[in-house]
Amino acid sequence: MTQPKAQTGAPLPIKTQPDTQTVIAVRHWTDTLFSFRCSRPRSLRFRSGEFVMLGLADETGKPLLRAYSIASPAWDDALEFYSIKVPDGPLTSRLQHIQPGDQIILRPKPVGTLVLDALLPGKRLWMLATGTGIAPFASLIRDPETYEKFDSVILMHTCRQVAELAYGRDLVENLQNDPLIGEMVAGKLRYYPTTTREDSPLMGRVTDNLVSGKVFADLGLDGPLTRERDRAMICGSLAFNIDVKAILEGWGLREGGNSEPLEFVVEKAFVGEGI
Ligand code: FAD
Ligand code: A2P
Repeated sequence: MTQPKAQTGAPLPIKTQPDTQTVIAVRHWTDTLFSFRCSRPRSLRFRSGEFVMLGLADETGKPLLRAYSIASPAWDDALEFYSIKVPDGPLTSRLQHIQPGDQIILRPKPVGTLVLDALLPGKRLWMLATGTGIAPFASLIRDPETYEKFDSVILMHTCRQVAELAYGRDLVENLQNDPLIGEMVAGKLRYYPTTTREDSPLMGRVTDNLVSGKVFADLGLDGPLTRERDRAMICGSLAFNIDVKAILEGWGLREGGNSEPLEFVVEKAFVGEGI
């Protein structure tokens, strides 16, 4: 590209504008969790399940960006994100206060492995999440392609407390009545929300419910997962991802990725302290 020239002949500096988007709506689910919608850059094409870098300018005007899974499906005109509020977190201590009309920075370069393309064809798709790890699945369960590719989709989401399940629960309930995708979802999407530190109808860690066979019994499904029939996507803390991966590998499933689609894919929901 030719740089524009000033009349003196000296090259003008090219101004790099940050990619700003406008916040449309914000919803607080708990003291530590919120979701928001913002405008979508015209240029942004993404595959459901991918993440982007977003954030705010710091005190010096420099962008302070963090990875965020896009929680809305690829067909949506706007973008949705589901976020933690880390009390002293450089970004989220401020991001949690955004209001409709505010500007955020969003780099429109989506990436990630929790995409349908990174899995071989199969019958059942398992989405295994803890905490904000449900965000990429919030996108994928709203994408018609998910239901075109799989006969059944099982979303297992585990949090410590009941209130932390609200975003996912609300999403699944609304999906059943959605004019665009409700019919497709009916009978195909199975939702298995559990808590570990507060009583609720379904309890226990994803790992324990898989290994004990409780989830298969509760949903009336054949277990365990098999290489021929099942595909899985994992998104939680590093410890969660490692433990689930070991269980799936024990059942003969192999970790794949964009360059080599196999039976399951893994992504960290966040990078923990000291890791
Ligand atoms: P940071 O300095 O980034 O984090 C401080 C500490 O808070 C971390 O060390 C960790 O212990 C804890 N923490 C950070 N994020 C989380 C979390 N999500 N859940 C539990 N504990 C956490 N975060 C989201 O809220 N929603 C998303 O959709 C999301 N997608 C991500 C996708 C990828 C691929 C990765 C790597 C991270 C993702 N994160 C997501 C985490 C996000 O990038 C930031 O870490 C988070 O927004 C906190 O930013 P911060 O600057 O306030 O604190
Ligand atoms: P638990 O309450 O038994 O630790 P966290 O907030 O620590 O990230 O945990 C979110 C949820 O994930 C909690 O319900 C927690 O269960 C569960 N969890 C944490 N680590 C693992 C793991 N290694 N395997 C399975 N579940 C986990």
